Amino acid sequence: SRLAAPRHFLTGEEIDGATLAALLARSRVLKQGRRSGSPKPLAGRSAALVFERPSTRTRVSFELAVVELGGYPVVLRGDELQLARGESIRDTALVLSRYVDLIAVRTGDHAKLEELARHASVPVVNLLSQQHHPCQALADLLTLAERFEELRGLPVAWVGDGNNVAHSLLLLGARAGLDLRVATPPALAPDPEIVERARAALESGGRISVGSDPIAAARGARALYTDVWVSMGREQDADRRRALLAPFRLDERLMRNAAEDAVVLHCLPAHPDEEIASDLLYGEQSAVWDQAENRLHAQKALLEFLLANE
Ligand code: CP
Ligand code: NVA
Repeated sequence: SRLAAPRHFLTGEEIDGATLAALLARSRVLKQGRRSGSPKPLAGRSAALVFERPSTRTRVSFELAVVELGGYPVVLRGDELQLARGESIRDTALVLSRYVDLIAVRTGDHAKLEELARHASVPVVNLLSQQHHPCQALADLLTLAERFEELRGLPVAWVGDGNNVAHSLLLLGARAGLDLRVATPPALAPDPEIVERARAALESGGRISVGSDPIAAARGARALYTDVWVSMGREQDADRRRALLAPFRLDERLMRNAAEDAVVLHCLPAHPDEEIASDLLYGEQSAVWDQAENRLHAQKALLEFLLANE
C-alpha cells in the first residue's frame, strides 16, 4: 500500500505509527544493502542543507544520505545566506523552492522552521531546533529495533535534561509504543504540551511517565538514554544546569537498576564523565556508535519517503 507522504518533517508528528514502522523497516533494508549499491530515488534531485549551528553527525550523514540516494546536496552555513543579512525567511523559502526538491535546516527557534515550511513548496526537514530533533529520534528507534526487535512496550529511560532530543523521543517513541520513563530535574522537565501531544499519540502497549527520580525510571529499563546538560543556545545557563543535573548522571549506579541486557544511548556530542560515565559510553553496553551510524540509514529512508510522491 502506498503511504501518504507528508510535506514536511518538523516534529515527527507528521507521521503515524504505521508509517514510522515502515520507515524503520526500510532503514534496515537500506543499511543491509548499503555496500551493494543503493537505489537512486533522488536521481536528478537536489536538497539544500542549511546549518545555522554546528554539527558533525547531522551534517555528514545528511550530505551522504542525499549522495548515496543519487541526489545532489547543496550544503550551506547560515552565515553564507542572505538570510543572515536580513533577507526574509519567506523569500528564502520561495527562492530555494525554485531550485531544490527539499530544504533541511538546523536552527534555533522552531518557529523559524514553521515559517519556512509555510512558504516552501518543497518538503522541509528539521535538522534540529531548540525544541525538536526528529531525525535523531528515527535513528534512536532504529537502534532499539535492531537490538530488541519489538518496540511496543519496550521500557526506555530518559535521564537528564528534558530537551529537544527528549521531546522528539517522546513524540516518536509514543508512535512506536515505547514504555518511556522520563526523569529530569523539575526545573528542566520536558514541555508539558509536548508530553500531552505524545500521550495523545501513544500506540498500543505504549506508556509515558514523567518524573524526577532517575533510579525509578531506570528500574528494569532496556535502554538508558541521556544527552548533554548544556544544549546549543543554553550556554548562559550552564552552571545552574550542571548543578541541577548532577544527580542525573548516567553511571554505574543507574545501570545496576536497569535490565541485564540494557544498552546506553546518547545522541552525541558527549562530555564523558559529565552526563555519562566514560566506562558506559565506551563499554560493551554502549549502543551509542550504532546510534550515530543509524542517522545515515534512517535519514535515507526518510528522504526516500518524503520525495516519493513529490
Ligand atoms: N546528534 C547530533 O545531531 O549530532 P550533531 O550535532 O553533530 O549533528
Ligand atoms: N540537545 C543537544 C543535541 C545536540 C545534537 C543540543 O541541542 O545542543
